[in-house]
Amino acid sequence: MKKFNVYVTRLVPVEGLTLLRESCTVEVNPEDRPLTRDELLKNVKGRDGVISLLNDRIDGEVMDAAQGIKGFANYAVGFDNFDVKEATKRKIPMSNTPGVLTDATAEMAWALLFAVARRVVESDRIMRTGTWPGWGPMQFIGGDVKGKTLGVAGAGRIGTAMALMSKGFAMKVLYTDEIANTVLEKELGAKKVPFEQLLRESDFVSVHVPFMPSTRHLFNAKVFAMMKPSAYLINTSRGPVINEAELVEALKKKVIAGAALDVFEFEPKMVAGLAELVNVVVTPHTASATISSRTGMSVKAATNLLAMLKGERPPDCLNPEIYG
Ligand code: DGY
Repeated sequence: MKKFNVYVTRLVPVEGLTLLRESCTVEVNPEDRPLTRDELLKNVKGRDGVISLLNDRIDGEVMDAAQGIKGFANYAVGFDNFDVKEATKRKIPMSNTPGVLTDATAEMAWALLFAVARRVVESDRIMRTGTWPGWGPMQFIGGDVKGKTLGVAGAGRIGTAMALMSKGFAMKVLYTDEIANTVLEKELGAKKVPFEQLLRESDFVSVHVPFMPSTRHLFNAKVFAMMKPSAYLINTSRGPVINEAELVEALKKKVIAGAALDVFEFEPKMVAGLAELVNVVVTPHTASATISSRTGMSVKAATNLLAMLKGERPPDCLNPEIYG
């Protein structure tokens, strides 16, 4: 039987590739870097299926180049890089990788929360430079966590997991979402509140909304001004949800106490001024970077793509309506 022809836009853990190789010839981008737009357009040509990354924009132009393609599987749970509407019009299935990176991402939000509140990175820096003068009662005083109010903006899978992890810290939990989250309300006595109330009352605001036109710059100068001056902002969702230039200004002027970011508005770059601030912790979009999570993403992307290749509805289909 003729094997399917599959392209993977960057090396992913081998488990998914092994699954694919049972019935497909698999070509993987040999470079350890994202494809340029031209490379992407060239490499999708003549393929039966593609596994893409969150930085590959899969739009009408790519679909035109990939005539006859049976589906695109994103190696990510976020799919703001996919033009799902366009794919649906063309009856091309698309999928993402929900579930397998939920805990890893929630854990990273906590790692960032503690790092910024307890000034871990600043403290690490002084130790390494050999400039610590010895213990001092006024050094590196940070924010308390236990008993404080956690505001979860977007209580989907990851926001819920992050909030549930607050249990040991006896926090009051507020959340925003379109629908009531019965798990959070039952387990934590969490309260669904309007966005403004979450901003005004939270000591930590952890961002878990998906990126879409309506959430672009959801966090901006006006929003920072509503937060407590002692509050911290944590973002493990998508960079453009925050107006990064306005965040830099807010942090400079101490409108809020600090921010910890795993994602950036113009990845891989950060806006001018962010790197110089001490009340900021930054990590390179690594919230899902654990062995089980990245392996799970690889297997999920492959499983989804294999279903699409067989003409079946993939388990994590983003446009199920194409199956009628
Ligand atoms: C995702 O999956 O959307 C993350 O941002 C990367 O793992």
